[in-house]
Amino acid sequence: MNNMTVRVKVPASTANLGPGFDTLGMAFQLYSTITMRFAEKTEIRLIGEELQELPVDKTNLVYEVAAGLFAKANLPEPELYIEIETEAPLTRGLGSSASAIVGALAGANVLAGEPFTRDQLFEMASWLEGHPDNVGASVFGGFVVATLPKDESQPIPYVTFPVPKTLKTLVVIPDYWLATHKARGVLPEVYTKADVIYNVGHSSLLVAALAQGRLDLLGSAMQDRMHQPYRAPLVPGLAEMLAEATAHGALGAALSGAGPTTLFFYENEQQEQELRSFIAAVMARHELSYELMELLIDEQGVQIETV
Ligand code: HSE
Repeated sequence: MNNMTVRVKVPASTANLGPGFDTLGMAFQLYSTITMRFAEKTEIRLIGEELQELPVDKTNLVYEVAAGLFAKANLPEPELYIEIETEAPLTRGLGSSASAIVGALAGANVLAGEPFTRDQLFEMASWLEGHPDNVGASVFGGFVVATLPKDESQPIPYVTFPVPKTLKTLVVIPDYWLATHKARGVLPEVYTKADVIYNVGHSSLLVAALAQGRLDLLGSAMQDRMHQPYRAPLVPGLAEMLAEATAHGALGAALSGAGPTTLFFYENEQQEQELRSFIAAVMARHELSYELMELLIDEQGVQIETV
């Protein structure tokens, strides 16, 4: 048992970006911080109101994931002091569980003597989460395209690349939670050929548009028929926001991950002002309270510091 303390800073993220269901992710400068060290007896400290409902025993997700890494490295179950703090709201579609899993794995990996590479941590996190989109963004930062292979014996292929620096993001975070399993539960098991072709086309176009700086294509490229139409009944105002965003300043708009946060891309102040008024009007019509955040893209991914 060493007396090293590791502090891990993990960016929040958005997933899907419209059509890229379970495949596209983007990291934001909105961070969770996990501090971890060996202890005589496990103790978990949650900082801030947002986290207060989480367990503080060994059923805490961060502890479970950290202990899972030790088991995978054939090391004994650790007793850990863990401190968790987050700037990102939980269960709102900004990848909080992915951030927690990535932070737990990165911290535990250091304490365990670094048995795993960053790519292996990404793979472990993706299988734990069930999809690599939020996790990829939290590990690598920036914009990430990744897809799960057929089983865990194969590496998870991924590509990251910088998106245009002028791209800005506004997110509307409603004041209620939407559990990912609930938002996944409303999706169909089977899609028509036309809908599959539609989503493959739009997701491909979106990746190409971001790679080549064709921000003018975002409005059409971010259209989706795979999850947003089915999730819209769970997110009041979403249908209107998606249908009308580009007429009110947005370059493109999408449900962020499984929701209920909605994300808007824009480039300049005039677009931002138009968007803010539009969002305020839609949310007022639905009598919903919300928080609006302007988010910058995180280019670094998970950051690890030892003290
Ligand atoms: N791709 C996932 C979904 C992200 O939309 O369900 C949320 O975990």
